[in-house]
Amino acid sequence: MENRIREARPHVTRNEDVIFERSSPGKSGVDLPPLDVPAASPEQVLGAEFLRGDVEGFPEVSELEVIRHFTRLSTWNYGVDTGLYPLGSCTMKYNPRINETVARLEGLATDHPYSPESLVQGCLRVLHETAQCLKEITGMDAVSLQPAAGAQGELTGILMIRAYLADRGNPRQYILVPDSAHGTNPASVTTSGYEVRDIKSNADGCVDMAELGRAMSEEVAGLMLTNPNTLGIFESQIREITELVHARGGLVYMDGANMNALMGVARPAAFGVDVMHLNLHKTFSTPHGGGGPGSGPVAVKKILEPFLPLPVVERAEDGTYRLNYDRPKSIGRVRAFYGNFGMVVRALAYILANGPEGLRQATEDAVLNANYLRSQLKDVYDLPYDKPCMHECVFSDRRQAAPPRGVRTMDIAKRLIDYGFHPYTTAFPLIVPGAMMIEPTESAGKAELDQFIQALRSIAQEIEEDPQFVLHAPHTTRLTRLDEVSAARKPILRWKP
Ligand SMILES: Cc1ncc(COP(=O)(O)O)c(C=O)c1O
Repeated sequence: MENRIREARPHVTRNEDVIFERSSPGKSGVDLPPLDVPAASPEQVLGAEFLRGDVEGFPEVSELEVIRHFTRLSTWNYGVDTGLYPLGSCTMKYNPRINETVARLEGLATDHPYSPESLVQGCLRVLHETAQCLKEITGMDAVSLQPAAGAQGELTGILMIRAYLADRGNPRQYILVPDSAHGTNPASVTTSGYEVRDIKSNADGCVDMAELGRAMSEEVAGLMLTNPNTLGIFESQIREITELVHARGGLVYMDGANMNALMGVARPAAFGVDVMHLNLHKTFSTPHGGGGPGSGPVAVKKILEPFLPLPVVERAEDGTYRLNYDRPKSIGRVRAFYGNFGMVVRALAYILANGPEGLRQATEDAVLNANYLRSQLKDVYDLPYDKPCMHECVFSDRRQAAPPRGVRTMDIAKRLIDYGFHPYTTAFPLIVPGAMMIEPTESAGKAELDQFIQALRSIAQEIEEDPQFVLHAPHTTRLTRLDEVSAARKPILRWKP
């Protein structure tokens, strides 16, 4: 046990007071010379209507205290710029700084969405070219960049399927969703007015063809398939799957959020997908912190193009760009303006900076990294689907949870914090009890992966020797186990004396 790491990082103190607690009367961050003009009253400066009598208790602190307090707090945050962030399914890849530089260029950063088309030709060109690139990468015929997240892309795509079937006088009731799908898939299906029908996976973690055959009927609008699925497994029978669905008049929606495992290698249009979304943050390196701002473009085959949300960016024969609102079959607007434009700029910067070879390399590195982890850890952690994976691999806590140890995926994840790593995704996907879902992304180098592997191997050893120690991790943080349900449902966001 001498090797146990007890400090993840050197904090000056783990009991940093909040800034209000550091306050003492009369302290000030500035020391101004005496006024040589008459003092203006707050009413004169702000206007009486903006003055509130009830605001008091501002912290009184020195400049140095302010600087040290907030700088220290900033070092307590774990981010993709600090270290490996192996959250499976969330794809926390490095955001190259060139993206940020480009997104801050004057014109791209400052144009107003209500500007006339003639004055924002450059911005419209960025939208148009990004859509062209995504068409090339997916093989699809048309793209909308509007949805503000992957889940909204899903909703948009399913609404387009509904509009298409209604237009053909063939409305249907159900959408099939495999049990290895991302959790947002059934939610999007239900929100768009369809009912979900679950499809069980087979022993290989793929869609069970016999079960799909039984479920696919004239009442089924289509199949919503995450590919690679949340087990990190590519649906090897994807052609047979899409053919079966099409043969019975249904459409295939592919959740393409995991396109970072296919980009530059396989194009979903080629294996029969009719509509899909992409997550710019998961595949094209746009920021993913704090839940947004997201972007979930939707790509479709020709048959669905008339139903794309409004407006559509078009290039006229004279080379100018325009926004087309005159599309009678469109499902309408799904978001204000034209989507999260800043994210689109960053994604285009990433695509162009990498070029076709670079994008393919990113995919290959992501898949190689995940398989390296898989092969280096499978002798200590249970691997329920023991076959090559794509961009992520899913272990389970089966061995560590077995009596007498009783250590679960969440405990192992908490102990990883002591080793200075962000935890992996726990307890998802749901079809793997005690799931430990790891996605290293292409950003990680071998040295970092080896440290992570070493940490997880060392934790497995600790569990053998002293499970109680791991059950009470983390040991190096200011607080150990939080009541996570209360923290999520009843957050206390305001300090009160
Ligand atoms: C496979 C998959 N589908 C859908 C989503 C939903 O995307 P978003 O969180 O942008 O709504 C995610 C999120 O990471 C995902 O991993």
